[in-house]
Amino acid sequence: MNTTSLAKNKIKIVLLEGVHPSAREALERDGYTNVVTHPKSLPSEALVSALQAAYFVGIRSATQLTAEVLDRAPKLIGIGCFCIGTNQVDLGFARSRGIPVFNAPFSNTRSVAELVLAEIILLMRGIPERNAAAHRGEWLKTATGAREVRGKKLGIVGYGHIGTQIGLLAEGVGMQVSYFDIETKLALGNARAAPSLEKLLAESDVVTLHVPETPETEGIIGAAQLARMKPGAKVINASRGKVVDIDSLAAALRSGHIGGAALDVFPKEPKGAGDPFVSPMREFDNVILTPHVGGSTEEAQENIGIEVAEKLIKYSNNGSTITAVNFPQVSLPEHPGKHRLLHIHRNQPGVLSRINAAFSRHDVNIAGQYLQTDPSIGYVVIDVEMQKVSATKRLKGELDEVAGTIRSRVLY
Ligand code: NAI
Repeated sequence: MNTTSLAKNKIKIVLLEGVHPSAREALERDGYTNVVTHPKSLPSEALVSALQAAYFVGIRSATQLTAEVLDRAPKLIGIGCFCIGTNQVDLGFARSRGIPVFNAPFSNTRSVAELVLAEIILLMRGIPERNAAAHRGEWLKTATGAREVRGKKLGIVGYGHIGTQIGLLAEGVGMQVSYFDIETKLALGNARAAPSLEKLLAESDVVTLHVPETPETEGIIGAAQLARMKPGAKVINASRGKVVDIDSLAAALRSGHIGGAALDVFPKEPKGAGDPFVSPMREFDNVILTPHVGGSTEEAQENIGIEVAEKLIKYSNNGSTITAVNFPQVSLPEHPGKHRLLHIHRNQPGVLSRINAAFSRHDVNIAGQYLQTDPSIGYVVIDVEMQKVSATKRLKGELDEVAGTIRSRVLY
């Protein structure tokens, strides 16, 4: 299955599930005007027919790109998930077909950071319980337990994209920020690295969690860690539900040792609007509960549209696969004055030497070669000095004959 270079306006791109218009705008700005949009996901047969002539498809979380669907999309060369997760795509099958999959893991960083900043302030003021009481007709007008955040200590567990932004925002309102990360991280602003998680927990007025879900982070905040925290301290989790042991948190809230919490993620989350939200957290007035909306803002959707569209454009224009989730990652310079051959193959012995032999048979001067492999596939990009298009086409024809070839492409 191979494609030669097409004019950009011939490359059909199908965007499903109401992907933000920013994606279409970014594609059109770059000359990709053959964009077809669908407001919703499509059932599988309709999806297969929508993808018949598509080179790229953009989806969100509802479209299932199974092996069966991908197998029947003969022209597809790239997939954009305009969201964070990529479980809805059969990544292994896509890889075996030489189709890289891109997503947008960091476009909603700011949205999460802003929500957490608001929660820090609300929890420190005791607003959740006053709000809940007012809804019941009670008037909790007291300053007791209501604190300013200025000068208070914020402990950030996981100092990555989100953690660092929260640190800076919190300093803006006068908090003292420390963080714990398993990697050595450069401190931004006046933040400082805590020597251990235990120390961070013991000294913080508010602890906020921003780690990924891994075997090591599951239950990283359990009964022992909560017991180490200051009496009345607050816990915020907008990372992944299993990071906090929810029953231990419920016990610590019930005893009053933990003075409040804000949770956006849960070990068990409802599948949709009709599915009830069941959690021991529902009993607490001093807990802010949000339905996994930390990153859900219109700005984030717009940024996701741009981020993923740009990744697809880059791959289409110059072959770059940087940040692809299922594919060897190659970052490529522009190739002015050169023809670029992209060759995706099964990672088996002898492929590269056969490719190079084809080049020497044609007496073509290689100006640059980039190779990345993973255990199953190899991706080699070869820039050659400008020659007649017909000569490059002949060369591509030979590369397609190399045993193990999955797909090749030429960019003129
Ligand atoms: P990131 O990958 O930029 O940062 C994660 C940080 O955690 C890294 O610095 C990493 O070294 C550190 N880390 C990993 N294991 C650790 C451990 N055991 N102890 C301490 N530090 C550890 O990720 P990002 O973008 O900051 O996201 C953080 C979390 O937020 C992720 O779980 C992500 O899924 C979640 N998230 C939630 C959203 C929501 O809607 N609530 C939206 C976006 C992200």
